[in-house]
Amino acid sequence: MAERVYIFDTTLRDGEQAAGIAYAQEDKIEIARQLERLGVDIIEAGFAASSPGDFDCVAAIAREVRGSRIASLARTVEQDVDLAWRAIEHAEAPRIHVFVSSSDIHIMHMLQKDREQVLDQAVAMVKRARGYVPDVEFSPQDATRTQPEYLYRMLEAVIDAGATTVNIPDTVGYAIPDEFAEFIRGVFENVPNIDKARVSVHCHNDLGLATANSLAAVRVGARQVEVCVNGIGERAGNASMEEVVMALKTRRDHLDVEIGIDSTQIYRTSKLVERLSGFTMQPNKAIVGRNAFRHQSGIHQDGILKLRQTYEIMDPKEIGIPDGTQLVLGKLSGRHAFRKRLEEMGYELTQEELNRAFLAFKQLADRKRDIDDRDLEAIVADKMRSNESAYRLEMVQVTCGTEGQPTATVKLVTPGGQVVADAALGDGPVDAVYRAINRVVNVENRLTEFSVKSVTEGIDAQGEVTIRIERDGRTFTGRSADTDIVVASARAYMDALNRLILAQSRSNGGTRPATVLRETTP
Ligand code: KIV
Ligand code: ZN
Repeated sequence: MAERVYIFDTTLRDGEQAAGIAYAQEDKIEIARQLERLGVDIIEAGFAASSPGDFDCVAAIAREVRGSRIASLARTVEQDVDLAWRAIEHAEAPRIHVFVSSSDIHIMHMLQKDREQVLDQAVAMVKRARGYVPDVEFSPQDATRTQPEYLYRMLEAVIDAGATTVNIPDTVGYAIPDEFAEFIRGVFENVPNIDKARVSVHCHNDLGLATANSLAAVRVGARQVEVCVNGIGERAGNASMEEVVMALKTRRDHLDVEIGIDSTQIYRTSKLVERLSGFTMQPNKAIVGRNAFRHQSGIHQDGILKLRQTYEIMDPKEIGIPDGTQLVLGKLSGRHAFRKRLEEMGYELTQEELNRAFLAFKQLADRKRDIDDRDLEAIVADKMRSNESAYRLEMVQVTCGTEGQPTATVKLVTPGGQVVADAALGDGPVDAVYRAINRVVNVENRLTEFSVKSVTEGIDAQGEVTIRIERDGRTFTGRSADTDIVVASARAYMDALNRLILAQSRSNGGTRPATVLRETTP
């Protein structure tokens, strides 16, 4: 029987290290639940010691997610290991992931220690972690630029100290596939107790080789692969979950290993991470890009129509890609058909979420003739989250054109239920809307990104707006879709502002930042 390769997902830890990504706690929990549905073996939920917010997220995921093992990262310092344990202690299957740099360049210039001190720390902290939990992973950071004999010695020592998985990170994405395979082979051949641990790999994509390097390592015996959904992560990102999984599945004939992933959840997972991270996939992204299963040339189309396999090595259904051209619902469709289609697409909505989504669907159906799965996804993304303690946009009205200055009027409902109206002039309609909202909410921030993309084709398509705002070095992403892009922009801005306010109230121990109300309508 083929051996199992374990999928360790670090979208919530290394993925969040990508410049510009900052998930809210509820985003992390939503992603973790979806990773569980996808069937990943281990979810690295965060780095508990890095901030109180990260600690809370790891702890919440450890309490709520049951189907996957939950890991927290820790440096080789006592406080990190202790906090990692406290964050994951309620997990069904907890893991502490201890790491320290092993290359001379890191040891000398970054840690300013010597090799022996680093080795001793690694051993001591693996032992400390094992005192808490039977499942301990150890990573020698920058392994691929580490002197091999030192690396072997370190791995042997941490396995003796109790590490059950040893992970070999190509931290700076420097390796080349055949060379990396040799490197991993060297670990198997030179670490005497390597049979007592599982060998894992963690590849970065600086040279675009993260997936190739991960697969090369599997070929020579690595049995855990660390990945991020959509390949997000530090700098150029990590090995992409969807690429690694579909390569292992599609080329099982060559790689001869098993995985426990439900690949039909890949598309939904990718879309969720795309939405919550704000990192839009390039159209030609392997597996999950818009063009990954589109055939343009006449020769290819002819082949596909005769036999799909002529130009497709995977069936889009295996990835859970909905048939985007299918017209699923229209103006006269009822709640039952709406719920059924969402269930077919894999969404489990509460009654309250369903009510909100159905209302939005009816409103959209009044403005858009053909509603397909992509519209439904946008509606669900918009309406799933209800934040009772947030500001809500009740009305937005804009006057703009070739004459005069754009003017916006907004009416917002405050968390306390007050209706507040205000108006502002701006350089353009969206600027006017933002200024009007700012006059009501009055929370200082800097708009760093604004983008609009069409959800479907056609003049009546919904526009999906993504915006990012920054305050005190933290980024908050907001998103919304509507056939009116000014409305979508207003809602996206409210979404980001609500996240900022929530984060601030958490760091102030639950007190909402003061806001100035200007004009109140009962
Ligand atoms: O890239 C890296 O070395 C890491 C380690 C913490 C595993 O992310
Ligand atoms: Zn990494």
